[in-house]
Amino acid sequence: MSATMLQVAEDLLVFPGAGHLPPTYKDLISNLPTLPEAEASDGSIPIIDLEALHGPRRAEIVKQLGQACQLQGFFAVKNHGIPRPTVDSIFDTTREFFHQPKEERMKFYTPDPNSDIRLMNAYKDEVANVYVARESLKFHCHPVEKYVNKWPTNPPSFRKSAAEYLTNVRRVEITLFGAISESLGLETDYIEKKLGGHYVSLNYYGACEQSNLELTYGVRAHTDPTIITILLQDEVPGLQALSEGKWMDVNPIPDTVVVHVGDLLQAISNHRFKSLLHQAMVNCEKERMSIASYCYPSSDAMIGPPEKLIDSDHPAVYKDFTFKEFSEQMWKVIAFDDARLNSFKCSAA
Ligand code: OGA
Ligand code: NI
Repeated sequence: MSATMLQVAEDLLVFPGAGHLPPTYKDLISNLPTLPEAEASDGSIPIIDLEALHGPRRAEIVKQLGQACQLQGFFAVKNHGIPRPTVDSIFDTTREFFHQPKEERMKFYTPDPNSDIRLMNAYKDEVANVYVARESLKFHCHPVEKYVNKWPTNPPSFRKSAAEYLTNVRRVEITLFGAISESLGLETDYIEKKLGGHYVSLNYYGACEQSNLELTYGVRAHTDPTIITILLQDEVPGLQALSEGKWMDVNPIPDTVVVHVGDLLQAISNHRFKSLLHQAMVNCEKERMSIASYCYPSSDAMIGPPEKLIDSDHPAVYKDFTFKEFSEQMWKVIAFDDARLNSFKCSAA
């Protein structure tokens, strides 16, 4: 398998634990999504007030959040309580890490998808004729004490900044899971009880040097194989989400994070919530950074829809399956989108 093909495969994997069935070249190509031809346009993004979830308006905010998951598949979160210096510090650290000489960054390169930490490089996909400009450092981060010793020591601020940000993000995640569970009419801890680890990707998109932007992506269209993804963007635009058949710019809103519905929440919600197709473009003038926090279940957690969400009007769309089965399947059906779930559908053979 060529380096390019491997990188395409690697780009799909945002969590470890998958089996080792290498995808074939044909699988990769036949599963490339066809992108709708649409102008990206600015639009309104639902904004959820996290602090208000702890007060008398909880029921109202839970409802807003459920609607955002159902209608848009993503929302921004304000009053998330992650201190500004913590945010500044993770971006400073990320910038310093990626500005280091390549040899220093490449210390974290490995082709092993099960490695606790790995660097992924930008690459050209000769077949699809696109350049994917993202460089990312992906690593396990929960519990922090278990993994911190694997993280870089250059820049020296790395471990402290990352630990601080990730501890904060975990808290935001747990609060959101409580509200998302309630929005589905489930016990507050329904999703939290399924949680396993946490994986993070520090994403770095260099200012593009190529004039033909159509062929240069930050990252190509994909859904995340997570329950939810929490994305912290710096102030440079680039993220786009597919909304009502059109690409919509999800431009950074100061002091907010963006939350996406991932494939596994689509299954847990019995397809009431839809996994968000998104992509990132590069900017010709400025570098861009984002921090994506992916949360995934424990390997034996059951992911199919709960009985409460199934009735004669809403038959079960998915069978019960474990996260381990899902991870193994990811390597058999290499897909950029929720086709990863197809074999778990009730109608599947
Ligand atoms: C991701 C992702 C988008 C961005 O890391 O999964 O979709 O804007 N990132 O960096
Ligand atoms: Ni993503």
